[in-house]
Amino acid sequence: METKYFDLREKIDDEKIKEAAEAIKEGKLVLFPTETVYGLGANGLDENAVKKIYAAKGRASDNPLILHIADIKILDKLVKSVGDIESKLIEKFWPGPLTIIFEKKEIVPNVITGGLNTVAIRMPENLIARKLIRYSNLPIAAPSANISGKPSGTVLEDIKEEFDGKVDYMINGGKVNIGLESTVIRVVDGIIHILRPGKITKENFEDLGFDVAIEKQILGEYDGKEKVMSPGIKYKHYAPNTKSVLIYSKNNEKMVDKVKELAKNENAVILCKTSNENRYSGFDVISMGDTLEEISSNIFTILRKSDKLNKSLIIIEGVKEEGLGLAIMNRLIRATAHNYIKII
Ligand code: TXA
Ligand code: MG
Repeated sequence: METKYFDLREKIDDEKIKEAAEAIKEGKLVLFPTETVYGLGANGLDENAVKKIYAAKGRASDNPLILHIADIKILDKLVKSVGDIESKLIEKFWPGPLTIIFEKKEIVPNVITGGLNTVAIRMPENLIARKLIRYSNLPIAAPSANISGKPSGTVLEDIKEEFDGKVDYMINGGKVNIGLESTVIRVVDGIIHILRPGKITKENFEDLGFDVAIEKQILGEYDGKEKVMSPGIKYKHYAPNTKSVLIYSKNNEKMVDKVKELAKNENAVILCKTSNENRYSGFDVISMGDTLEEISSNIFTILRKSDKLNKSLIIIEGVKEEGLGLAIMNRLIRATAHNYIKII
């Protein structure tokens, strides 16, 4: 198939978004920006269209997709009920990087939910995403735009080749804002369970007075047997082909020393905080930024870039597992396949 490419980095062109929205209605695939990561979208109510997403991504069919909406009125058509806690979260965080799991209604096809009786819903904030959903007048099913297992796309350049000829439209909206996928939650017995950490943090929920539980597989390993609340936890993700290791200590000196010790005997690239760059003179480094926001917006692109250097080892400095740091560490622990050294 020929992929049609729209560059909306400088200026949003409604006519182009309308054309892409028409394509969604016709059951076609549209790659589009959101504020978290790029999405690979199709009509969420059309089984055949949704199947094309799984095929293009090479995604396991039991790993469910998120439905993206732009208007709160459509929520009742898709889900059985919206609880008090969910209502408060919607009011506070939508549109934005929060995905909520609900019991689904019949109208939501089983291909989307991987056979589960629940469905994940999110209302993105990105203007192109919102217009695409509005003009199509449909909920858009969209996973992160990446071949399954690879880091999610945060700039179109990173994923253009992967999806060229596999999607009908690609919309370039520039570098996304956040750079990590949305927080995924499910409320059970009055407690907010975080199934995937993101920009909306545990602390954000606690500040509003809610009780929060974090699924233990978020930082730990999945043993292949336990029942998981989110099927995504079971699958390898974000992984470069190059061997990689994650190092963290609260004590920056100790962390830097350990990184150097490992780098010494390898042809390594070090992914470090910008403020540590000058401590690694003589080594190959890529700086990730200093704030958690900077690191989160750069990390997926940097993982892809470092993999292309053909090094023997990628060494990554970790961050404190707090606030947005929990989401960053969740992605890095998975990217390094749990090759994580934490120094007390
Ligand atoms: O920021 C995002 O969420 C991006 C943008 C495009 O919106 N989308 C995204 O989708 O990251 P995806 O498919 O890559 O990740 C969806 C996650 C998976 O881990 C999946 O297992 C989980 O949400 N999920 C989806 N439906 C679920 C359900 N019914 N119950 C539990 N987990 C679910
Ligand atoms: Mg994904």
